[in-house]
Amino acid sequence: MKLEQIHIPVLLKESLFYLNLKPGKVVFDGTLGGAGHTIAIFKAIAPTGIIIAVDHDSQAVSTAAKLFEGNENACFFKGNFADVLSIIKKAGIKKIDGFFLDLGMSSMQIEESSKGFSYMRDEPLDMRMDNEGGLSAFEVINYYSEEKLRDIFYKYGEENYGAAIARNIIRFRNNKIIRSTGELNKIIEKSIPPKARYGSRGHPSKRIFQAVRIEVNRELDNLTEGIEDGFKALNKGGRMVIISYHSLEDRIVKKKFMAMQGKCSCPPGLPECVCGARKVADILTKKAVTPGNEEITNNPRSKSAKLRAMEKIEDL
Ligand SMILES: C[S@@+](CC[C@H](N)C(=O)[O-])C[C@H]1O[C@@H](n2cnc3c(N)ncnc32)[C@H](O)[C@@H]1O
Repeated sequence: MKLEQIHIPVLLKESLFYLNLKPGKVVFDGTLGGAGHTIAIFKAIAPTGIIIAVDHDSQAVSTAAKLFEGNENACFFKGNFADVLSIIKKAGIKKIDGFFLDLGMSSMQIEESSKGFSYMRDEPLDMRMDNEGGLSAFEVINYYSEEKLRDIFYKYGEENYGAAIARNIIRFRNNKIIRSTGELNKIIEKSIPPKARYGSRGHPSKRIFQAVRIEVNRELDNLTEGIEDGFKALNKGGRMVIISYHSLEDRIVKKKFMAMQGKCSCPPGLPECVCGARKVADILTKKAVTPGNEEITNNPRSKSAKLRAMEKIEDL
């Protein structure tokens, strides 16, 4: 089958540039999605390069595997990018030259999965990107304690009205199970004074849905583990490129990259450094790279994207 992109990839030119691709390179793409980046990376490393592409959404993996049928240098796995070390081992690869992540969800997941990722659709509460079981949004919303809900709304949604929303969820579910995103939306809206509902930070459901999705899919833990093990998997001179879509993710990428560049993380006031900070990487993007107006107009999903890149210079 002809390799055509079926999803508009975000910051594509910039991703390829920072990955520093050449024929023969070995690249791990941990967020296959609609295969937009995967196809472009594969073309840039062909004919001898190898791509190992992973997604925990089996639909994404089977669609891409069909697209690449007959290409021996493309390996697909249903899995978690945090397991990069065991996945490349399965593919018979010892080290990689590129580690790439384009975080979040694909357009297909938001628009076609019916899993309740968007507050703009009335769908069952699910939000699992991995369709093989595990914690769902239904369980989070119906079984978490008020304190735990308040905590995730605050930590992962940065929502000022998180406490009121958590309280109202508990009140509602004392009478009735909460089954749909529509019901959750109504509870969120009622918890916020009308004047504060649609302020400059946008619709409050957006932040609460983000918080629940992060909790369900362990997104921040996966990112931290993925960066640490992705770094171990890289050859010296190998590149790591990560595109994130909200500040919590970008903060993790930035902090991890700074630490790898040798920035001390000791608490202030210590007479000498005890955290053992050592420079093992060079940060290639002084500031996060963001899309220009033209890309945002053509692909509004790219609006909040931030790309950061680094090059490994030493093993840890
Ligand atoms: C924004 S989409 C990727 C789009 C892709 N770069 C493209 O151009 O078509 C993110 C994808 O990463 C997947 N994903 C998110 N977290 C993951 C994880 N920890 N392990 C594996 N896949 C993950 C999602 O299921 C989704 O398909």
